[in-house]
Amino acid sequence: MTQAVAILTSGGDAPGMNAAIRAATRVGIAEGLQVYGVSRGFQGLIDDAIVPLTARSVSNIIHQGGTFLRTARSQEFMTLEGQQKAAAHLTKRGITGLIAIGGDGTFHGCEALSKVWSGQVIGVPGTIDNDLYGSDYTIGFDTAINTVLEAIDRLRDTAESHERFFLVEVMGRWAGYIALAATVAGGAEQVILPKTDTDISKIAHAMDEGRRLGKTSGIVVVSEQGSEGAVYEIAKQMEKNAQGRYRITVLGHVQRGGSPTAVDRILATKLGAYAVKLIRQEQNAVMAGEMAGKLVAVPLVETWTRKEAKPLDDFLLKILPALAM
Ligand code: F6P
Repeated sequence: MTQAVAILTSGGDAPGMNAAIRAATRVGIAEGLQVYGVSRGFQGLIDDAIVPLTARSVSNIIHQGGTFLRTARSQEFMTLEGQQKAAAHLTKRGITGLIAIGGDGTFHGCEALSKVWSGQVIGVPGTIDNDLYGSDYTIGFDTAINTVLEAIDRLRDTAESHERFFLVEVMGRWAGYIALAATVAGGAEQVILPKTDTDISKIAHAMDEGRRLGKTSGIVVVSEQGSEGAVYEIAKQMEKNAQGRYRITVLGHVQRGGSPTAVDRILATKLGAYAVKLIRQEQNAVMAGEMAGKLVAVPLVETWTRKEAKPLDDFLLKILPALAM
């Protein structure tokens, strides 16, 4: 049975990661485990940046965005040599359980580690993108969409004063969860989701039609198509055949920061604590998730191979045209 467990955060940070680390640390200690924290994700495992955590190490972090353990996207960990170094540093301390908080890149890293290390690996979904199967919501998503919403509300003020139309690019990698949530909650006229064969000129003409029907300002939410900046090309296409002209706002990394919402703190606390319980239950290569209000252990591999089983809300997608009238 595992006696010592390490916690790391990896990939893009997400508000609520600190709350998850806090819960895993304290519940781990309460269960009699020795708990370690790893700095800078998998890179920290390679660099042996592993320190014991106490209940006090995680005081006063529940309200802070980011991750006090720091995070990284490690190139070295992509190599077998890096993975073996990481495994050796865990083994030398007698650590036999790892809790990895992050997104699908992090979970791919867990899978790679499992091939060279015999300890238990438990994932906790921490990403603003919400693009993992196995948890209805990921830690950080709620905070991110509220940040986007605040930005859209502010843009709406200036848009209406100047009678302008805006394209607002939001993050989300190849998933449209942030974009759809922002569109509905922000009352935007149109959304351009990733990975769809969206007819951009149709959207541009729909915006022109809105003007003809008396709209004096408007917002189109554009999901980054995999990475930041796709909106500039989309703006060119929008303006090509249609009348309307657009101001562009790229929200970028602002969406990753800030104090986590209550929703994210509670989800993070639950899932961080549940990850420890899964370690105690001798589970391995699973993610601690929450689906339909129930805590679930989902095989890590399914978190990225079953993404189609967590589609965007079809009801919301269908009513969007009516909402934009
Ligand atoms: O996965 C989280 C995320 O913020 C994505 O939405 C975005 O595409 C990406 O990370 C940006 O990565 P980086 O911080 O490395 O630029």
